[in-house]
Amino acid sequence: MAMPNDEITQKVSDRYARAASTGEQMCCPTSYDFADLKSFIPEEVLTISYGCGTPAGLKTVAPGETVLDIGSGGGIDCFEASRLVGPSGHVIGIDMTDTMLTIARKNAPVVAANLGYSTSNVEFRKGMADAIPVIDGTVDLIISNCVINLAPDKRKVFRDMFRVAKPGGRFTISDIVADQPVPQYLIQDAEKWGDCLSGALTLTDYLAGLSGAGFLGIHLIKSSPWQVIDGIHFFSVTLTGHKLPTDSPVTAGRYATLRGPFSRVVDERGTIYFRGIPLPITPDIVCLLNQTPLAPHFVLSADPLWLDRADARWTAVYPADAPCLWQGHFAMLAGPFVEAADDDHHLYRRGEPVEICSKTLKVLEADGYAAHFAIINRTGQKVSSDAVICAPNVNGGCC
Ligand SMILES: C[S@@+](CC[C@H](N)C(=O)[O-])C[C@H]1O[C@@H](n2cnc3c(N)ncnc32)[C@H](O)[C@@H]1O
Repeated sequence: MAMPNDEITQKVSDRYARAASTGEQMCCPTSYDFADLKSFIPEEVLTISYGCGTPAGLKTVAPGETVLDIGSGGGIDCFEASRLVGPSGHVIGIDMTDTMLTIARKNAPVVAANLGYSTSNVEFRKGMADAIPVIDGTVDLIISNCVINLAPDKRKVFRDMFRVAKPGGRFTISDIVADQPVPQYLIQDAEKWGDCLSGALTLTDYLAGLSGAGFLGIHLIKSSPWQVIDGIHFFSVTLTGHKLPTDSPVTAGRYATLRGPFSRVVDERGTIYFRGIPLPITPDIVCLLNQTPLAPHFVLSADPLWLDRADARWTAVYPADAPCLWQGHFAMLAGPFVEAADDDHHLYRRGEPVEICSKTLKVLEADGYAAHFAIINRTGQKVSSDAVICAPNVNGGCC
């Protein structure tokens, strides 16, 4: 019989309560500028920072915005948000663990004083990630750092995130994902839940959960390898996405022409675009394609606009005319498209690992591609593969 969700939640909470009271070091390397944070956040909070990414979304914060941090822990990201939204903004941290909440609440007035605020703009509420104690449609930016993997019912979490986001709002979350489904023997191991392993989704399921909840323009900001356990690669990703505004500022349809380097893409609504060929689009799609991760890939125009190969916006990246090596690399498309093709007959589907050779790796490191792929290496050790001269395969491609 599967372990009940309540039991998982209790074990996870106990684990973090214990860690917070001992100041134990946990989870993954992050790239905070601790010297800067130390200037206004007490050491007690910084010691129990258990994230697996930096809150990159906070770079997009504007003064006066409302930020929600799901699983705020000791409050590190809330306090940084507090500084960025300014005294007119509002930050809500939610967490299920009392020990964490006590530390975070105790330090809120200290941080406010260090920032020169007359009163703290941060509040910490006790609550669950899948039942967020926040009113519908009130949050500009949702952040979360290494928490959602710990929630047994992630679809409920994603749905609740969508509920509390304002129309036009966005999320940026860091979390642990796996390159293949986590097996039952790990899922049923309560201790491994607290280690951010048992509850990790595959990237495909994670992205599908977010888009199933209604978010669009879902896109990878950063990925880095973390651990390999029993052949399963766990890595941390930072993802962002949008809840589209309800009242689109655009009323008329337009044409969208895909720029390079992708030769063909499918967006989250199923529309297929071929590079250089204009496609009529409806006002809501105009709104979607205007979002940050998608906008650089399209030329939007009032009249159909064709791009030919001589146009700088057509761009293609071809593999080098040289032998290639198979060294265990796999590429995973991580949005904002659900499907995309390069110029070497590779078809990438969001979240699905595709084995690539050294030449394709080089191609995917090029501008326009690099930001969209998480690359992992599945070899346990360095491989000394022989260079292969690629013969065109059945699709006419290289490898
Ligand atoms: C890995 S720590 C990360 C804390 C914080 N985000 C940081 O970066 O330091 C996970 C935190 O999420 C909280 N948490 C885990 N599962 C949760 C859930 N389902 N609902 C609410 N909080 C949860 C834990 O209590 C803990 O404080």
